[in-house]
Formats: sequence, C-alpha cells, structure tokens
Amino acid sequence: MSGPRVFVTRRLPGNALERLAAVTDLDCWQGDANPPHGELIERARHAEGIVPIIGDPIDAGLVEACERLRVVAGVGVGYDHVDVAALTRAGIPFSNTPGVLTEATADLAFALLLAVARRLVEARAVVLEGQWKAWDPSFLLGKELAGSTIGIVGVGRIGEAMARRARGFGMEVLGWSRSARELDGVSFVSLPELLERSEFVSLHVALTPETHHLIGVDELAAMRSDAVLINTARGQVVDQSALYAALRDGVIAGAGLDVAEVEPMPMDDPLLELANCLVLPHVASATVATRSAMANLAVDNLLAGLRGEPLPNCVNPEVYGPR
Ligand code: DGY
Repeated sequence: MSGPRVFVTRRLPGNALERLAAVTDLDCWQGDANPPHGELIERARHAEGIVPIIGDPIDAGLVEACERLRVVAGVGVGYDHVDVAALTRAGIPFSNTPGVLTEATADLAFALLLAVARRLVEARAVVLEGQWKAWDPSFLLGKELAGSTIGIVGVGRIGEAMARRARGFGMEVLGWSRSARELDGVSFVSLPELLERSEFVSLHVALTPETHHLIGVDELAAMRSDAVLINTARGQVVDQSALYAALRDGVIAGAGLDVAEVEPMPMDDPLLELANCLVLPHVASATVATRSAMANLAVDNLLAGLRGEPLPNCVNPEVYGPR
C-alpha cells in the first residue's frame, strides 16, 4: 500500500498492523529484540511516522537524522526512553498509551505481592524437587495480607487500582504522591512514614530525574525488616545494588520485581540467586486485551498525527502552539 512511510519497531498484537498497512507504507521490524540503534535510525530516517516500544531510544540524534518525521506514537505509558524535549524542539508531537494498561498492571503488581508474601515460587520448587514430605505446621510460612499495611508510592491511575485491590484484601492502605491528593480509603502520609509503617511497599511512580533511585540504602533501612518491596514501575526507581544487599542481609524480607535497572536482567545478576526475590521479565501489561488496546491506541494517535490532527494522547501539546 502506498501512503506515508511508517516505521514500527516490533510486531504488534491484535489488528494494529493491519490497520496501519491499509493506509500507510508500513515497515515493521521483525526482530525479537529492539532494533540496534544504528538500524533504528536507518529505518526511521525514511519515515513520516514512528511507532516505538519501551526501550527504543528516541533521542536527539534520531530526531536530527529523521528529517521527514511528523509524528511519534509510542506503545507504552512510560516514556523515559524518549527525549520528549528534542521532539518538541523539532515540532514533532509524541503520544503514549495511558489508561488502557491500568488494570493489567495492577493485577500483576498484586500477583507479585501475593507470590512473594506466600512464597509461591519456593513452594513450587519444593514440589518439583520431590521435597513435599508431609503437611508440616511450620513449613513455608508466609505473610498474611488481611490486616496488614500496604504503602503505595505514586497514587496515579495504577496506584489507585492497586489501592482498590489491597482494600479488597482487607489491607490498610497508605499512599504517597508528589502532589497532594485525597482518595477514599487511602491515608496519605510522608514517604518516610510510609516506608516505616508498611509491610508491603508498591512502587507506581514514573521514572524521572526526581524518582531515579527514589528507593536506595537509606529508604531500605527505614523499612520494616518484615517488609516486601514490589516494583512494577521502572528498575531505575530502585538502587538495585542497595536492594540486593538489603535482601541478602535481612534488612527487608522480600521483593517482587517486574522491572530491572538493566533489561533484560543479566543472568549473572546476584538478585537472581536470592530465594526472597522474585523477578519477572517486564510483563505487567502483558494480557491479550491490554497489549492489543495499547497497540491500537498507538495507531489511533499515529494516524491522527499523519492526518495533521492533534494526537489524542499527546505528551507534548506545546508543539501545537497557543490555541
Ligand atoms: C509501560 O507501558 O510503561 C509499561 O511498563 C509496559 O508494561
């Protein structure tokens, strides 16, 4: 099909690619990992629209090399891999996919919390290794959720969805957000108070210069020794070396991570050796419905941009100038 040239950096689920192929000259990277940077620029250079995914560096060099580029529509809500300022300087609108992945991400965060609290991975290993000997009153004891306290760091859409789940399990919910807010069933407190009081701490902040290593040595030391840390936000929100030491030395009890400072997490990362740390490969939004919705929302944004219309989920509306 002829039409504006579009580069999509990965095969997408659902019918998103068919929708694009019907009205654009579509180039889709077929690899199973992000295209190498040089390849990304080479393919993007010819495009009027790009659909990147999490981890594709949309940086100033790429923006400069892509003279024909008119719109960038990312698949994902987080956009720490995108130099939005460089796009804005070049007058190129950029969109993300907020809203559609809220429930799936909160589900996975809560699944991690339950799995670590009730030691599901250790329990499965016991069965597979033939160590299931008898019902034992003291065997594989975990943490009870009802009556416990969870601290939600970053009460945006996903943090709110996490709070709803926690209340359903009979937990007391503390919250911390950069901007003051109120929400039924959530007691907002300072970050130090949240860390000190919570048996579960779940991170839901975007990665920004302010939240980089928000949880480091001091914050881990301030947490309860029976606390569990859940991170489905971004790996760099936590100082991972400090987390390893805290888990190894019993400063906190456990962690469930869907994200890592370096992704994919290298196989020799010491966190992978710890029984009290469960690591998943960044799959919080990975349901059929959610990933299709993310892909379709990115296509909606891209096509609007190619038609010269404002992007429905524009992150840098200043490119459109004063209205
Ligand atoms: C996002 O969209 O930022 C998520 O991390 C993807 O799961």
